[in-house]
Amino acid sequence: MLDTEKLRKDFPILSRTVRGKPLVYLDNAATSQKPKAVIDALSNYYLNQNANIHRGIHTLSEEATQAFEEVRKKVAKFVHAPSAQSVIFTRNTTESINLVAYAWGRKNIQAGDEILLTGMEHHANLVPWQILAQEKGAVLKFVSVTEAGTLNLEDLDKNLSKKTKLISVTHVSNALGTINPIRRFAQAARSVGAVLFVDAAQSVPHIPVDMRVLGCDFLAFSSHKMLGPTGIGVLIAHEDLLDKMPPFLAGGDMIREVWLEKATWNDVPYKFEAGTPDIGGVIAFGAAIDYLQNLGMDNVRAHEQELVAYALAELSKIQGLKIYGPLDAAQRSGVVSFNLGAIHPHDLGTVLDEDGIAVRAGHHCCQPLMRGFGISGTTRASFNIYNTKEEVDKLVKSLERAKMLFDACAPGAFSTGSSSPKETSQKSSRK
Ligand code: ALA
Repeated sequence: MLDTEKLRKDFPILSRTVRGKPLVYLDNAATSQKPKAVIDALSNYYLNQNANIHRGIHTLSEEATQAFEEVRKKVAKFVHAPSAQSVIFTRNTTESINLVAYAWGRKNIQAGDEILLTGMEHHANLVPWQILAQEKGAVLKFVSVTEAGTLNLEDLDKNLSKKTKLISVTHVSNALGTINPIRRFAQAARSVGAVLFVDAAQSVPHIPVDMRVLGCDFLAFSSHKMLGPTGIGVLIAHEDLLDKMPPFLAGGDMIREVWLEKATWNDVPYKFEAGTPDIGGVIAFGAAIDYLQNLGMDNVRAHEQELVAYALAELSKIQGLKIYGPLDAAQRSGVVSFNLGAIHPHDLGTVLDEDGIAVRAGHHCCQPLMRGFGISGTTRASFNIYNTKEEVDKLVKSLERAKMLFDACAPGAFSTGSSSPKETSQKSSRK
């Protein structure tokens, strides 16, 4: 495993307390913590380099432009993108998906065309396609989710046809941790001439990702889940695909020439980067990539896989606790979603917070998935490079405490032997 004692010192926030207890941060699928190198890169930019990019000919602007463009190269190398120019900076994965739904979708999707999605998509990889389909009269098809929290690949073959123009699938489920077989989706897409979009928000931060191996056309992810700042997303696609797409947002930097009545577009990626971007954020994102590269993504994956295997084993010992998603750690990332009897996830999350443990509780922006399991939500612990087995032990101990608390309130009603919180239960409107 990684030397957590050493690397935790790089993350200043990990030494703080929450409610008088040492912070146990297990909400990494929502956002990761940031090492000092990233925070320093951000403040160094504002202290020493602050200037707008691609515009000025003065030294500061040239330095900032160079630092910004270096990160584009780092991102490309990190996921083996076709080229640095194929990397577009957005605000987040959500914006990357919306960019494709708007720019590629409105040009290429016609009435009667089919868009193939899955039942485990984050709302961000669902709603933009719903809007596109409604606007164009296209049809959404779905690969369903099994009881075990994996994709039912029979549906992939069954729903694939010449009408399929786009397949969009998450690489790793944010709610379950399931790692999906993207190459299988790439083969399916190729067999009917469809385009494959991969939501890699939960994979790029945690497992080695090679775009050439995945065989996808579009890949999207976010800086803030991979030790970098919030406000920076990435969209990658082959330049020839991007060349053929109309712009998404219009304004400065995305143009070549402008007249009063018309304009022509800049080359990719700039055609898709209208307006001043988060320059400091992108530069700090570069420091996050350096940090992960230094650790090695194979080592990151090995660390998190061992942690999740330990968590699965320890959590399984708690009577009344139901785990969602594959029970084999090799098939999932460092995410464990569970319910403890009929205790509502928000109530469980509140008890954990009293012990200094941060988790996410609710539907995880996956309401259709939760509905499929017949529940309102889950409690989700998600790991990162700085988490330890001792922290898993603290989670288990806190869950045992929650069980005792709820049993004391109403013996047998909540924690043991009761079914999971139902979709129709109270508070189901809470996020
Ligand atoms: N998509 C993020 C999560 O799953 C916010 O928590």
